Amino acid sequence: MAFRFLLLTILAVQSAAVRFGVDLANGKAHGQPPFKKSDRIAIVGAGPAGVHMASRLKQMGYTKTVLFERSDRVGGKSLTLYLNDTGECIQQKDKTGQMDTKSCVAHDMGTCFLHNGYHSIVDLVNEYNLTTTVAPEGRAMFSHFAKDSFSSQSMQEFVTSSIMDGVKKGTIKVPWYALTTKLKVLGALISAVKQYNILHESLLGKVEFSMPPRLNASTLQKINMTFAEFLEKNDLHALSGFLMFAHAAQGYGYVTSIPALYGLWWISPELLNGYVQMSFRQQLEKIADYTTKNKAGRICQSMRGCWVRGLVSWLVGGEAGAVKRTTTMLPEGYQKIWTTIAEKDGLDVRFGVDILEQGIDRQLASSSNTPIVIKYTQNGEQKTEEFQFLIYSGPHAHAKKYVKDLADQEQSIFSKLKSFVLATTLYASPPVKDYTDESHQLPIMYSADKMADSSQDGSWYADRYDDDIFAGVWNPTMQPRVGYQFYENYESDDSLKDTDRTPLRNKRMSLAPAVLHRFKQELAKQLVTNVTIIRQYPWPYFHHFEQEAIQEGMPWDLFEMQGERKTWWIGASACFESVHDVTNYNLMLLSKYMGAQFEAGRIV
Ligand SMILES: Cc1cc2nc3c(=O)[nH]c(=O)nc-3n(C[C@H](O)[C@H](O)[C@H](O)COP(=O)(O)OP(=O)(O)OC[C@H]3O[C@@H](n4cnc5c(N)ncnc54)[C@H](O)[C@@H]3O)c2cc1C
Ligand SMILES: *[C@@H]1O[C@H](CO)[C@@H](O)[C@H](O)[C@H]1NC(C)=O
Ligand SMILES: *[C@@H]1O[C@H](CO)[C@@H](O)[C@H](O)[C@H]1NC(C)=O
Ligand SMILES: *[C@@H]1O[C@H](CO)[C@@H](O)[C@H](O)[C@H]1NC(C)=O
Ligand SMILES: *[C@@H]1O[C@H](CO)[C@@H](O)[C@H](O)[C@H]1NC(C)=O
Ligand SMILES: *[C@@H]1O[C@H](CO)[C@@H](O)[C@H](O)[C@H]1NC(C)=O
Repeated sequence: MAFRFLLLTILAVQSAAVRFGVDLANGKAHGQPPFKKSDRIAIVGAGPAGVHMASRLKQMGYTKTVLFERSDRVGGKSLTLYLNDTGECIQQKDKTGQMDTKSCVAHDMGTCFLHNGYHSIVDLVNEYNLTTTVAPEGRAMFSHFAKDSFSSQSMQEFVTSSIMDGVKKGTIKVPWYALTTKLKVLGALISAVKQYNILHESLLGKVEFSMPPRLNASTLQKINMTFAEFLEKNDLHALSGFLMFAHAAQGYGYVTSIPALYGLWWISPELLNGYVQMSFRQQLEKIADYTTKNKAGRICQSMRGCWVRGLVSWLVGGEAGAVKRTTTMLPEGYQKIWTTIAEKDGLDVRFGVDILEQGIDRQLASSSNTPIVIKYTQNGEQKTEEFQFLIYSGPHAHAKKYVKDLADQEQSIFSKLKSFVLATTLYASPPVKDYTDESHQLPIMYSADKMADSSQDGSWYADRYDDDIFAGVWNPTMQPRVGYQFYENYESDDSLKDTDRTPLRNKRMSLAPAVLHRFKQELAKQLVTNVTIIRQYPWPYFHHFEQEAIQEGMPWDLFEMQGERKTWWIGASACFESVHDVTNYNLMLLSKYMGAQFEAGRIV
């Protein structure tokens, strides 16, 4: 039957899971490594990209790396604070030798989730013996689909409302045999997921290291629009409400303005399947249960029976009651990944470093043997060191300030990078109605309408209650939580417009008074009073290319100039703002330019 074929196709697309090892589909391996084992290599920035690169290079025998870090810690945008009942604390081992993550709870002010497609991070977690925990279910979804602005829905109710809205308006078609609302919603969702996944592969091919390969002119034209326009144009209305939040919730921009490339980049078929499973797990398990009960007798005798069974075997993997939980978190904090790597690999990190303006001179005009000279201050003392190769993981948009001999090609690419602001605030307040109140006690909140477009800049659009997640504690009076605000436009705010900044861990006052003020206003609108602000971090975020630069091929031009001028440009500016992407980008560089082979993320 037609839908049987349909489900097989979904299965085929889904199982095209991406692992490492081979070269890029249409890439060519470059011969000579750009540096020797005896060379000194300078790495600017000890965030995830810099730490991971130094660690993998060490595994390959390149041990003379030095990391230059502006702040007093490794981890960059993976920043964890810890609180107990009386204030800040340090996690200690308990009697059994395990970290006590319950009485001293981790609050991630940056990276926090480990999604189902994050193979490179799962590999690191395993390699360094870190602990993960499955993120608890239940989300408080606020949106115009709910009863009023103080009422939330579950994720499943939210997606259902948004799809049924489309069905009513006629933008979403459902099969005639989908009689109940449940089946209408799942039917519409499944057929849109299938269509999306097929489209994704036809446009981007099989993506190897998370960054799509260079796209040809006809493909570029098909994605020369915003992600929202792309979904609309390709008749993917059933995914609109869902993806609007799945994309924007991470601070990756509003789907109404972000170029389609980035939507497709982030929402891989694997990630999308994971999100759908997560949102409908309980319902799917019920259906799975139903089909199991009927297995002995007449399964798949009616079209509807076949369809439901096929649906379930796709989403549940054939096993009843075993829908995979897809989002995990780190109870010891995300920063722990990078501090553990730096410690166990014995990386040479210089903290509190200020590289002087024009302080990096690659001496490109001289012969290729001339060293790279780096001038910097550390604890007020000026120092000069020489290296043979530079790896730069800071924001590329600001490289011009530090690198004296930036070439025209480099500058013309970097000057096209634009960024956003994602602010996180650690604060304490009494419970929030329909989210952390007594009758709900939910771990995470999203406010969907506040992810619609730039008129929503500065809204309180997401929130997390870590005590609930990591310690199973619900407090009826005061709850420490982490709130999120996002800005597409921020240039009019003097405290935000210089995006060459690293928010410091111990700085008590917010760097951006307007952001803090807006946060308190937003909470008050939701009837949250008695708010105590503990810390706020307005991160410069998601350095990316705008539509025109994508059409000119800049993301791929950047990759192809790697190694020229004694430099690798890595980190989020080179690819996409996630730990998954920056580590994959490193693996791609090592694979393509050094012929490295990996097994579970380790060099072999
Ligand atoms: C609130 C928030 C939530 C997030 N959630 C997730 C998530 O759930 N999943 C996910 O995958 N990702 C998430 N991210 C994104 C992820 O944290 C980043 O993509 C990742 O940290 C990027 O790594 P990086 O090394 O490229 O850059 P950064 O993490 O920004 O590190 C760069 C480092 O370089 C240093 N540096 C910069 N310039 C200089 C200079 N001139 N001299 C010396 N040092 C310099 C900085 O101090 C910093 O330590 C989140 C980020 C934030 C802010
Ligand atoms: C909280 O942690 C601090 C520092 O680790 C410690 O001094 C204090 O006693 C702790 N408070 C509680 C209630 O455990
Ligand atoms: C992780 O644990 C294994 C088994 O106990 C051990 O062999 C390995 O050295 C550990 N890895 C690190 C990085 O500590
Ligand atoms: C462009 O790339 C797509 C996707 O890889 C491919 O299907 C198509 O044939 C290519 N078109 C041209 C003109 O090369
Ligand atoms: C992309 O679309 C814009 C209009 O939205 C158009 O001006 C531009 O020429 C297009 N670029 C390409 C390469 O098709
Ligand atoms: C707000 O805090 C004050 C003083 O801590 C307390 O008396 C009052 O009951 C609190 N109000 C709420 C709504 O929790």
